[in-house]
Amino acid sequence: MTDDLLRWRSEFPTLEKTVHLISHSLGAMPRRAREALTQYADEWEDRSIRAWQEGWWEMPRTVGNLIARIIGAGAGEVVMMQNVSIANWIVTSCFDFSGRRNKIVSESLNFPTNLYQYHALAGTGARLVTVDSEDGLTIPLEKLLDAIDEETALVSVSHVLFRSSFKQDLAAITNKAHRVGAMVCADIYQSAGTVPVDVRVSGVDFATGGSVKWLCGGPGAGYLYVRRDLWPQLKPKATGWMAHEHPFEFKTGPIEYADDIFRFMHGTPNVPGMYAAKPGYETILEAGVERIREKSLRQTRRLMELACEAGYAVRTPMNNDERGGTVTLDVPDGRRVTDALLQRDVLVDFRPGSGIRIAPHFYTKDDELEIVIREIRGLLERGR
Ligand SMILES: Cc1ncc(COP(=O)(O)O)c(C=O)c1O
Repeated sequence: MTDDLLRWRSEFPTLEKTVHLISHSLGAMPRRAREALTQYADEWEDRSIRAWQEGWWEMPRTVGNLIARIIGAGAGEVVMMQNVSIANWIVTSCFDFSGRRNKIVSESLNFPTNLYQYHALAGTGARLVTVDSEDGLTIPLEKLLDAIDEETALVSVSHVLFRSSFKQDLAAITNKAHRVGAMVCADIYQSAGTVPVDVRVSGVDFATGGSVKWLCGGPGAGYLYVRRDLWPQLKPKATGWMAHEHPFEFKTGPIEYADDIFRFMHGTPNVPGMYAAKPGYETILEAGVERIREKSLRQTRRLMELACEAGYAVRTPMNNDERGGTVTLDVPDGRRVTDALLQRDVLVDFRPGSGIRIAPHFYTKDDELEIVIREIRGLLERGR
């Protein structure tokens, strides 16, 4: 069987050095990222202060436009941030939790950053309601929908859960939230780049994500999408001079928010981070998320079959519609096995309560799936 996506392998020299099955945690580095960082250094040295006018200032938007194409947003609707933690903090700062509509509905398997922030908001009147998982893998949709009511201000969910790779139904969640007057913030970090995301189709109000994983963009390039028609009514309390309508007037006094996506900015952006991230986005766009997804479903299924044949418990949904790009295996002594795999240049990771996380991406060869299972089996047999 020919695998057309493998032609991008040569763009990722790191793939020849290891068995890279860790794209849920750190995507492979594109060859062009090094060139982009050199370009950044050249501009810094050669153009000095003029570099801001020649592109740096606009980068949170121009680079955000690449993300917009990956997640179904329009041009100018995504702004780059340093990470999800900052993006989510800006989102929550748009809300007033002092009234009756003060509930934040989330899930117990959401990424900890999001939950830490909601707990920290308790002093502002926010009431956090987390929907529990019954099996440690999935979140029951009906229970989540039932928790969303007229007192809910914000619903915060991960599109794909980082622990189990369970994929949630964003459209159903948004539908219910909007029916009762609540807004939805989706953390799409574990989906964008491997699972098709369309913020317009799902209707979410906010989406946050980053580039370290499936987008192969490295650290320091998070992003925030905000539904355009909501901009005029949203006034983030977490703000800064770059969110001002006229930042170079350096006015003191209360902020006058920009009327575009920059109203969600704060201070100086991570320019080198955005340079490094661009080649990853461009590659994902060239390869196409639909094709990446098709391959991911095939390879994750194959991994699960191999794991089942070897007698390991799979802690990831079997159903294609409910699965993101990662397969989690619960094997005895998972942490020790993971450490030993890393020493053998087989890159995976371990999450307590779930197991060994393994992620093929568009550049993964089929034999690498056989290798990881063979290595796990060997390590477990030798450890007996
Ligand atoms: C779903 C999800 N959200 C957020 C993060 C990270 O947040 P931040 O960008 O603030 O480091 C991760 C992974 O590290 C994640 O898997």
